[in-house]
This record gives sequence, C-alpha cells and structure tokens, in this order.
Amino acid sequence: MCLSVRAVILSAVERTVENGKIQNTMKKIAVIGAGTMGNGIAHVFAQNGFQVHLIDIAQTSLDKGMATITKNLDRMMAKEAIDQAKKDTTLGNISTFTNMKEGVSQVDLVVEAATENLDIKLKIFKDLDEACQADTILATNTSSISITQIAAATQRPEKVIGMHFMNPVPIMKLVEIIRGYSTSDKVTETIMELSKKLGKTPTEVNDYPGFVANRILMPMINEAIETLYNGVAGVQEIDMVMKLGMAHPMGPLQLADFIGLDVCLSILNVMYNGFKNPKYAPCPLLVNMVMAGKLGVKSGEGFYDYSESRKAEQVSSQFK
Ligand SMILES: NC(=O)c1ccc[n+]([C@@H]2O[C@H](COP(=O)([O-])OP(=O)(O)OC[C@H]3O[C@@H](n4cnc5c(N)ncnc54)[C@H](O)[C@@H]3O)[C@@H](O)[C@H]2O)c1
Repeated sequence: MCLSVRAVILSAVERTVENGKIQNTMKKIAVIGAGTMGNGIAHVFAQNGFQVHLIDIAQTSLDKGMATITKNLDRMMAKEAIDQAKKDTTLGNISTFTNMKEGVSQVDLVVEAATENLDIKLKIFKDLDEACQADTILATNTSSISITQIAAATQRPEKVIGMHFMNPVPIMKLVEIIRGYSTSDKVTETIMELSKKLGKTPTEVNDYPGFVANRILMPMINEAIETLYNGVAGVQEIDMVMKLGMAHPMGPLQLADFIGLDVCLSILNVMYNGFKNPKYAPCPLLVNMVMAGKLGVKSGEGFYDYSESRKAEQVSSQFK
C-alpha cells in the first residue's frame, strides 16, 4: 500500500477512535447562565442524551429557563418532531444549581453563557479553573469578548475555547468555534466533533474582535441604523429592502431589536476598541436608544413597539 494512502487510512482510524472516545467520555456538561442562550444550549445537549447541570446565580432565571425549555419541547411535540418519551427524557437529563462549584465539580465540559460582561466572565473562568477537574474543557458562548483574554484567567488556556451558538439555539445550525491564542488542536477537534453530535454545523475561526459572525453582521446593522439616522428611509422601508431585495429572513433593524440593542452596542464597541478603526464606531442613534433604555424586544421597544405583540408589526412612535 502506498505510504500516503496508509497514512490517510491510519489517520481516519485514529479519528474514529478519537470520536469513540468523545462519545464514551463526554457525558456530563455544565451550562453557566440560564438566560436566552443558556437554556437553549442546555436543551440541545439534554435532547442529545447528555446529563446537563444548568447553573445560574438567580433561582428565578433557572425557573424561567426550565419553563422555556418545556414550552419549546411542547412546541416540538405539537409539530410531531419529538414524542412524549423524548420530552420526558430531555427534561430528566437536566438538573439545576445555584451553587457553581457544586454544579461543575464532576463535568467533562462547561459551556459558559452568562451575561456579556468582561469582569463577570473573568471571575467565572478563574473560579471554574479551581472547581473543575484538570481535564475539563472550558468553553464560552461570548459574542465578542476575546477568548485569549478569558483563557488567561485560567491555568489551562489550551483547554479554553469559544463555542458560539446562534439564537434560537435549538433551531439554528451554526456553531462558530473560536480558537484562542493557546487553544490546542485536540481541544478544537473535540469541540468540533461534539458540535456535530448535537446536529450542528461547526465552523472554525480565529480569535479576533467580533470573530466572523458579528464582524460581518454588526457593521451591516450599524449601517442600517446610520441610514435611518441620516433620513434616507424609514424603519419599515429599510427592513423591506433587505428582506425582499436581499432575501434576508428578517430586516436588520428588526434583527437588532431581537438581539438586543445593548448587545449590538457592546459588540460594536469591542470591535471599535479592538481594531482602533472608525468604521466600527457605533451610530449615535444606537447609543442614544441604549441610554434611553430602548433595547428592543426585551424592553418592549426599539425600532419597533412590542407592547402588544412580540412581532415587529408596529414601528416605534419615535420613528413614525
Ligand atoms: N442573545 C443572543 O442573541 C446571543 C447570541 C449569541 C451569543 N450570546 C452570548 O451568550 C451569553 C449569554 O447571553 P444571553 O443573551 O443568554 O444573556 P441573558 O441576559 O439572557 O442571560 C444571562 C444569564 O446569566 C446569569 N448570570 C450572570 N452572572 C452569572 C454568574 N456569575 N454565574 C451564573 N449565572 C450568571 C444571569 O442571571 C442570566 O440568567 C453572552 O455572552 C452573549 O454575548 C448571546
């Protein structure tokens, strides 16, 4: 047999063994934060047979998170995508904790999905490094914070990686896998394989501000806000051009409301500061809206008014 063919077969065998090892060893996962993203991540792992420890500092967030998972499973049952038994085993695979140390002590992987704030994340990763077993992989779902900086808060930077799920997690296929400066090949491969096991499509990218998803998305959203700010067109007209003209399922202003205008502002600031390039400077209108507490769907008003419906049907009175 030619050497190169043998090498390819051997490497495939090694991969299979490696995959087998992943399947056998990765059983228990902790998810930190039970908010919008955390409950979706817990749902997807639990539905795929993993034991999930869902952890939040607030019991109310855990209760709300579990109620959302139950509602989403009921919706899947109504569409006959799963049966009652699957719903019951999925819920049975999730335990909730308010004590992080207790929840992470025996797990193979932690996926952190707490509030997007550098100090909060650095403290969580320092504590995780002390509380977790030496071989536990520590992943973060951050939208924009440097994986390298988060990894530097631990003594295991080679085992720290970005696992950026998209919202809503049970539906969206992509997971952006971000390698920090020191993330090892083995950890990257393990997380890529694991994402596939969840039925997702992982894409590997490097650790620079905004990674890939937000580096491309946020300037588009910012430009849509700038277009509105300059009086080129109204809210519905801007969204309509992108929906019908570019086949986007949602217009950029509606999408900004859905993501949260505070989140958009924070990501733009990370890119602006990280690249020192004015093209990422947030539009003054976005800054004003965040200061006024108009954060989009979660606050009831952004570019649209959500007081009567969570759908973007009514343009906010500010923009009529
Ligand atoms: N919302 C999105 O569309 C989206 C998309 C991709 C990634 N992300 C990222 O996911 C992460 C979570 O975002 P979210 O939208 O779910 O936020 P969220 O505000 O809905 O939820 C955050 C949760 O973290 C909890 N929390 C805060 N500090 C904690 C701590 N020390 N320990 C445990 N729990 C703690 C809060 O109580 C809250 O329940 C952020 O890093 C965000 O950038 C968000």
